Amino acid sequence: MKLSTLLLTSIVSLASASALVAEREYIPEGAAITYPLESRTKEKQKFDNWGNAIEKDRKKVTIRASKHDRDDISDDFLWALKKANHGGLVHLKKNHKYIIGKKLDLTFLKDVYVNIEGELKFSNDITYWQANNFYYAFQKSITFWVWGGKDIKIYGKGVINGNGQAWWDGFSGAEILDPSNKYYRPILFLTDNATNIEITGLHLKDSPCWTTFMVRTKNVAFDDIYIDAVSTNVSSLPKNTDGFDSLNVDGFRVTNTRVNVGDDCFSPKPNTTNIFVKNLWCNGTHGVSMGSIGQYAGVKDYISNAWIENVTLLNGQNGARLKAWAGPTAGYGYIDNITYKNIRIENTDAPVVLDQCYFNINSTTCATYPSKVNITNVKFIDIYGTSSGKNGRVVADLTCSPGATCEGIHIENIQLKSPAGDPAQIVCDNIKGDIGVPCIPGSEADD
Ligand SMILES: *[C@@H]1O[C@H](CO)[C@@H](O)[C@H](O)[C@H]1NC(C)=O
Ligand SMILES: *[C@@H]1O[C@H](CO)[C@@H](O)[C@H](O)[C@H]1NC(C)=O
Ligand SMILES: *[C@@H]1O[C@H](CO)[C@@H](O)[C@H](O)[C@H]1NC(C)=O
Ligand SMILES: *[C@@H]1O[C@H](CO)[C@@H](O)[C@H](O)[C@H]1NC(C)=O
Ligand SMILES: *[C@@H]1O[C@H](CO)[C@@H](O)[C@H](O)[C@H]1NC(C)=O
Ligand SMILES: *[C@@H]1O[C@H](CO)[C@@H](O)[C@H](O)[C@H]1NC(C)=O
Ligand SMILES: *[C@@H]1O[C@H](CO)[C@@H](O)[C@H](O)[C@H]1NC(C)=O
Ligand SMILES: *[C@@H]1O[C@H](CO)[C@@H](O)[C@H](O)[C@H]1NC(C)=O
Repeated sequence: MKLSTLLLTSIVSLASASALVAEREYIPEGAAITYPLESRTKEKQKFDNWGNAIEKDRKKVTIRASKHDRDDISDDFLWALKKANHGGLVHLKKNHKYIIGKKLDLTFLKDVYVNIEGELKFSNDITYWQANNFYYAFQKSITFWVWGGKDIKIYGKGVINGNGQAWWDGFSGAEILDPSNKYYRPILFLTDNATNIEITGLHLKDSPCWTTFMVRTKNVAFDDIYIDAVSTNVSSLPKNTDGFDSLNVDGFRVTNTRVNVGDDCFSPKPNTTNIFVKNLWCNGTHGVSMGSIGQYAGVKDYISNAWIENVTLLNGQNGARLKAWAGPTAGYGYIDNITYKNIRIENTDAPVVLDQCYFNINSTTCATYPSKVNITNVKFIDIYGTSSGKNGRVVADLTCSPGATCEGIHIENIQLKSPAGDPAQIVCDNIKGDIGVPCIPGSEADD
C-alpha cells in the first residue's frame, strides 16, 4: 500500500470514528454511515442542478433490509432520512426488500438523495392504514407517507411497491367519489409543500389508488419512470390507479416514461401550471387529460401552459382529453394554453375529447347546469392513429359548455381513423371561431 493511500485511509476512518462518537445516541441495528473521501474537497468540486453536492461527495446512510413481508423497517428508514438530510444520501440495496408498515411524515427534507436500488414495499395491513394515514379532502385522498421540503432526488433502478392487490380486492365494484364510500385507499407517492424534486429511473408498482399526487409543489420532474398496476384477480381490477396527478403545482415535468394502468395516464388537477410532458407511453389508460377541474362549488380552478409532445396512447378509453365538471354543485375556472403535439393513439374509444359534462351526470342536468370552466388556446397538432370504433365514426369530440367561453381551439394535421367507417367524424359544439378542420355538431354525429 502506498503511503498516501494509507494516510488517506486512516484519515477517513478517524473521521468516521469521531462522527460515530458524536452520533452515538442511536444507530439502528444493521445501519451504517460512510463518509466521502476527504481528498475530494481538494479537487474542483462539482455541484448538481440545484447547487448541492453530487452523489459521490455525499455521506451515505444504509439500513438493514426486511427479513420478510412483516418485518417493518419504517423507523430505520425515517432515521436514515434524518441522518442523511442536509447533504447526504440514503441507499437501499439491490436485491433487498424494505417493508414500510407505518405512516411517515417526510416533510422535513432539505437537500437529500434517496437511491433506491432494491424494493420499498408497503405492508397491506388495510385496517392499520385506514386508521393511520395522511388525508386530503381533494377527492378523498389518503397516503402512506408525505414527501416535502426542498431539493430532493429519489432515483435508482429499484421499485416502490404499493402492494395494491388486497386493496383492489376489498374495493371491488365501488366508486371512490360515491358519497357513501368510506373505503379509502392510499396513494403510492405524494409530495406536499415541496420545491425541487426529481424522481428518476424507478418502477412504481401496484398502487392501491393514484400512483403519484403532487400537492402545493413547485418544480417536480419525473424521468425514466415505469408505472404499472396489474391485478392477478379477474374479479377485482385496479381502480383509480392514475399515473400522475397534481393540485396547486407549478412546474410539472414527465419525460421518457411508460404507464400501464387502467385509469388516467397523466392528469394534472386544479391549479397546475407550466406542465411539460415528452416521450410518454400509456397503455390501457383513460388518457393524458387536463383535469378534471371545476369540481367544488364556489372554488376557482385553473390549468395553464401545458406542452404535451410525443405521446403514444394504446388500448384506452381516451387519448388527448380535457375534462371539467358541470352540475348544480360544480365550481368554475379555466384551462388555457395547452398544446398536444405528435400524439399517436391506437384502439382507443375517444382519441380526442373535450368533455365539460364530467362526472357521471346526464345530459339533462349538464344542460341545466353547464360547466363554468373556460377553455382557451388549445392546440392539437399531428394527431394520428385509430379509434376503437366504440363511438362510431367519431374520433374527436370537442363539446364545449354553453355556459362558458371556449375559444382558440385548433386542430392541425389530424389523421385519425375509425374501424366503424369513413369518413371519420370530428364533433365541435359551442366553440367560438374556426377550429382549423371541418367538423360537425354533435346532433349530426354517430353514437
Ligand atoms: C412549507 O415548507 C417550508 C420549508 O420548506 C416551511 O417553512 C413552511 O412552513 C411550510 N409550509 C407549510 C404550509 O407547511
Ligand atoms: C378476487 O376479488 C374478489 C372481488 O373483490 C374477492 O371477492 C375475492 O376474494 C378475490 N380473490 C382472491 C383470490 O383474493
Ligand atoms: C417518442 O417517445 C417514444 C416513447 O414512447 C420514444 O421511444 C421515441 O424515441 C420518442 N421519439 C422522439 C423523437 O423522441
Ligand atoms: C396493454 O394493455 C392491454 C390491455 O389494456 C394488455 O392486454 C397488454 O398486455 C398491455 N401491453 C403491455 C405491453 O403492457
Ligand atoms: C386554486 O387557486 C385558487 C386561487 O387562485 C383558490 O381559490 C382555489 O381554492 C384553488 N383550488 C384548489 C382546488 O385548491
Ligand atoms: C404557453 O405555454 C407555453 C408552454 O407550453 C409557454 O412557453 C408560453 O409562454 C405560454 N404562453 C403564454 C402566452 O403564456
Ligand atoms: C370566463 O370567460 C368570461 C368571458 O370572457 C370571463 O368574463 C370570465 O371571467 C372567465 N372566467 C374565468 C374563471 O376566467
Ligand atoms: C338526470 O339526473 C338527475 C340528477 O341525478 C335526475 O334527477 C334525473 O332524473 C336524470 N334524468 C334522466 C333523464 O336520467
